[in-house]
Amino acid sequence: NKPIVTIIGSINMDLTITTQTMPMQGETVLGKHFSTFPGGKGANQAVAAARLGANVNMIGMVGADAFGDKLSKHLRKEGINDSGISIDNEASTGIANIILSENDNRIIVVPGANYRLSPNIIDQHRHLIKESDVVLVQLEIPMETVNYTVQVAKEFQVPVILNPAPYQDLPDELLELATYFTPNEIEAEALNSNPLFMKIQEKIIMTQGEKGVHYFLNGKEYHIPSYQVGVKDTTGAGDTFNGALAAQLVQGHSLPEAIRFSTAAAALSVSKIGAQGGMPTKQMVEQFLQERGSVQ
Ligand code: RIB
Ligand code: NA
Repeated sequence: NKPIVTIIGSINMDLTITTQTMPMQGETVLGKHFSTFPGGKGANQAVAAARLGANVNMIGMVGADAFGDKLSKHLRKEGINDSGISIDNEASTGIANIILSENDNRIIVVPGANYRLSPNIIDQHRHLIKESDVVLVQLEIPMETVNYTVQVAKEFQVPVILNPAPYQDLPDELLELATYFTPNEIEAEALNSNPLFMKIQEKIIMTQGEKGVHYFLNGKEYHIPSYQVGVKDTTGAGDTFNGALAAQLVQGHSLPEAIRFSTAAAALSVSKIGAQGGMPTKQMVEQFLQERGSVQ
């Protein structure tokens, strides 16, 4: 039986525009290309974990519209258990408006149905959390729901990886209950200034983009550099890292091994446009690690 990762989080359709120049205030510019891509931090992390060899349950919410339908089907096609995805009749499926230019990306997320994922709905899917080996959650759903999810995971003694993105202040009980936090540098800054920082420092795995990953183990600080790769689109690189980390940990790898592997997976993911485009399979990451070895 493959170990199970349960992801509680957002499901979005990404509306992605590539453009030479970003419009200034009040300006209109001609863009290059438009595409829709499956996205949302929760769904992205689910796809990453599934491609990397975990059994994945997704708990989330979409609207009763074409995007919602398409996104649920897509997750099923990726081999993800979508029985935890509910349909809300009032809100529209979450979307992200993504503008990519040569050296900039700007994103506006409209959460829609993602914000209708209530603790009540989590309760309907408790069995999915109960059977999990790890739970992975982000902050594109209501904080109340994140908090409740972590309580349920605690009740069943399932470890929790909390990816605090996009950043909001975390309630103290969440800081205490989660097993790991995976902030990026900006999100980590907010955590650093929290009065409970000394208590949670050991739980923090900080991703620093092309600079690598910073983490603690048994009281010592470590840094793993990232791999040099050609970049097409960094959208979803953090999600690839998180999904990979969860998939690796449930498959019995040590934290350093899991982080190394996840760094490689994230590096591969940026080679293609779209958050989930470029997310590698386990075999692809293994081959990449063999080629690159520990030489960055
Ligand atoms: O982390 C990347 C994701 O953030 C995108 O797929 C977009 O949907 C936003 O939620
Ligand atoms: Na990508």
